[in-house]
Amino acid sequence: MTQDEMKQQVAEAALKYVEAGTIVGVGTGSTANMFIDALASKKDEIIGAVASSNATADRLAGHGIKVMELNDALNIVDSLSVYIDGADEFDPGRNLTKGGGGALTREKIVAAASDQFICIVDESKQVDYLGAYPLPIEVIPMAQELVAGVAIELGGRPVVREGFITDNGNIIIDVHDLKITDALGVEDHLNKVPGVVTNGVFSHQGANVVLMATPDGVRVI
Ligand code: A5P
Repeated sequence: MTQDEMKQQVAEAALKYVEAGTIVGVGTGSTANMFIDALASKKDEIIGAVASSNATADRLAGHGIKVMELNDALNIVDSLSVYIDGADEFDPGRNLTKGGGGALTREKIVAAASDQFICIVDESKQVDYLGAYPLPIEVIPMAQELVAGVAIELGGRPVVREGFITDNGNIIIDVHDLKITDALGVEDHLNKVPGVVTNGVFSHQGANVVLMATPDGVRVI
């Protein structure tokens, strides 16, 4: 089974977490894209979807799925029923690294507004601890050097993502060579640095359930 076939399988498995009459939070990336394609089959059953990026909003709209602003959605419901998204890594505590696609801030906001985060991955994303995948940090441009210095203090190697501006108009610093054994601590530490908008450790907003595709089927973790 190819990696794309595994992503397809797990994207379809996530559909069972989508309940009729609800508003669904939708993530960003290649696995989330496959989920969006699958969600089209339920578009008449749901009130609508909140997108975590402009790219996701475009793809949802392309399928005729109603795209709602988060603020509008939260004027109708107390919270979104579910947030469904991929990840770059997940550890045994269901802490995640996200932001490979640069949408981490909106992803974290929509996840925080949702009752449940269902993370859809293939088995290549499973790790013992986070850090092999460079940790993205969204940063207000004037704080670049300040934040890079903190990343170095943590033992990392910060690299500014060349030619990339987020949907919020900021830069991304990818921090290489970290070994994150205290995901919650690293998330909190980085978020306290002035100029950091969000970092890609999702521990406060970790997954409630990880659906992991394997050649033998989807495992629920
Ligand atoms: C987007 O910013 C990321 O957080 C993605 O969710 C993550 O990179 C997973 O993407 P893939 O499904 O393409 O691996």
